[in-house]
Amino acid sequence: MTTEDLLDPKVVSSAAEGPLAPLVSVEDYTRMYEASVQDPHRFWAKEGKRIDWITPFTKVKNTSFEPGNIDIRWFEDGTLNVSANCIDRHLEARGDQTAIIWEPDSPEDPALHITYRNLHRSVCRMANVLKGLGVGKGDRVVIYLPMIPEAAYAMLACARIGAIHSIVFAGFSPDALGARINGCDAKVVITADYAPRGGRKTPLKSNTDTALLHCKDDVQCLVVKRTGGQTTWTDRDHDYNALSADASVDCSPEEMSAEDPLFILYTSGSTGQPKGVVHTSGGYLVYAAMTHEVTFDYRDGDVFWCTADVGWVTGHSYIVYGPLANGATTIMFEGVPTYPDAGRFWQVCAKHKVNQFYTAPTAIRALMGAGKEWVEKHDLSDLRLLGSVGEPINPEAWNWYNEVVGKGKCPIVDTFWQTETGGHMLTPLPSTKLKPGAAQQPFFGVRPVVLEPTSGEVIEGNGVEGVLCMGDSWPGQMRTVWGDHARFEKTYFSDYKGYYFSGDGCRRDEDGDYWITGRVDDVINVSGHRMGTAEVESALVAHAKVAESAVVGYPHDVKGQGIYAYVTLMNGEEPSDALRKELETWVRTEIGPIAKPDLIQWAPGLPKTRSGKIMRRILRKIAEDDFGSLGDTSTLADPSVVDDLIENRMNRG
Ligand code: WTA
Repeated sequence: MTTEDLLDPKVVSSAAEGPLAPLVSVEDYTRMYEASVQDPHRFWAKEGKRIDWITPFTKVKNTSFEPGNIDIRWFEDGTLNVSANCIDRHLEARGDQTAIIWEPDSPEDPALHITYRNLHRSVCRMANVLKGLGVGKGDRVVIYLPMIPEAAYAMLACARIGAIHSIVFAGFSPDALGARINGCDAKVVITADYAPRGGRKTPLKSNTDTALLHCKDDVQCLVVKRTGGQTTWTDRDHDYNALSADASVDCSPEEMSAEDPLFILYTSGSTGQPKGVVHTSGGYLVYAAMTHEVTFDYRDGDVFWCTADVGWVTGHSYIVYGPLANGATTIMFEGVPTYPDAGRFWQVCAKHKVNQFYTAPTAIRALMGAGKEWVEKHDLSDLRLLGSVGEPINPEAWNWYNEVVGKGKCPIVDTFWQTETGGHMLTPLPSTKLKPGAAQQPFFGVRPVVLEPTSGEVIEGNGVEGVLCMGDSWPGQMRTVWGDHARFEKTYFSDYKGYYFSGDGCRRDEDGDYWITGRVDDVINVSGHRMGTAEVESALVAHAKVAESAVVGYPHDVKGQGIYAYVTLMNGEEPSDALRKELETWVRTEIGPIAKPDLIQWAPGLPKTRSGKIMRRILRKIAEDDFGSLGDTSTLADPSVVDDLIENRMNRG
């Protein structure tokens, strides 16, 4: 067999020939997967060519998971520009094809169809505006925008001039925004007057003004007009609409090294404040493009919709970079699934003839609760594939998604991955025999390993359970924590030496298929959003009346996990419903609405060991209303606190 035989899928058919044979068949997968892990250099040397290089790479993989020397480089001597790959290289063949369909919050407002040619002009204008503000190669730009086309322009404009973007989800509070602006020492923050979402408006500009009170004086603010609503204007503000109208529509792309950072994205971990995950240019783009094409079976002319927000990694890889690198038509949706009614997703699918639809289990559960009549009102006959991401999907939601939305004819790809991984790690492909609730099999080049949690020994064979690690690097892997390489090593490579530790538990069933069992650390997953319990705790204890707090997750029907906070008040403070409300509002303003505790329990004391360590295992059990199996409490300094906590538990049944 030649190299090409080994690495290429065999069956390629086109939509015109009738029902599509999957891009990668079961046989292709087995053969290509083997080849990808046997000889990653050869496999990725070929895949690396899916993007355009200014100077082609000669080195493919140079990676080390060795303690003390965590060093990850892919295609390191190649140079490229990510925005040229996402735009310029498509202009000749598909300049008039729609690159982005923008669907606004209100269905009454018209959608925008932005062609690759127009995308090019808008991105060049934005790039020139940023240059005019003094932004250059390596500078950081924070993006705090609604889901509007300018968010994509801003990302690609940064990529074009070699600046590093860091998007902050528009639902985050001024404090969270300020911490991130300072964390990466940004030169400019790009925001909008207001963010319409679900019929409500978040005052982004005024949030940014508040955030900037705690930032360096020379941070500049570029303001996009979205609603035209009133804002206050300061010396550091610049009017994007005025500046871009005068800006040139030409801006030549900067030549970047494959390992130059493309973006920083802050994400929650089990300890401390969120960390800045760094992704670089070459490997990330190759991986985002390949996973987008292969996992979603994307073909030329398809309309692809990922419902995420660009504030999360899913939006980076599967709204912007992956689809645009592939010359796709990608949808950017400003709204929410239930506004103006629970049929909105399906109305948008029908309106734009969506072929691949990618969303989170929490949305599926919420829409399932609203009833199937909302789905049946709309023509979903163009749907060919469904995807799920962000948390394990329960079989009930999977079956509903399959039957009611997919009419039993669309494969569901349950994609397991993380901010840190850049793209899919475990996922069935459309040709895979599916198991509801399982992420099933590794993507090409990914080497999952199951370890015994305490001893760290590798567990071989099937029908086993343990913690999920990766035995080798893949091109989309994060390279470092911004400004703190030691934290990178400590977080991901120190518990299990020689492996990347995902933080998730998993089971490998009798057939060798993988099932994610959830986080094994103090990270919880609320509506598909990652939240560090430590972050919520530190927000709570920052309140003057709170002495101590412990936060855990508990099962929640729609959100997957809810936030359960145990709060010990300062001496002399009395618990009350008013104080409970006050603390909820406090956390909203400290972090953002997604961090608001669902349940707050007043705890006169927390269960601690004699050395003062909080026994979270016990708190989790009580929050789960499962206190019959608390295990050994004899090591507690004061076992009686447990009885009080059980007696006054907030989640009953
Ligand atoms: C969880 C989102 C089960 C997991 C792309 C992971 C999943 C965390 C799945 C990363 C899935 C994501 N099945 N669990 N298909 N996808 N997770 O960084 O716990 O926001 O560690 O990235 O979400 O969340 P993050």
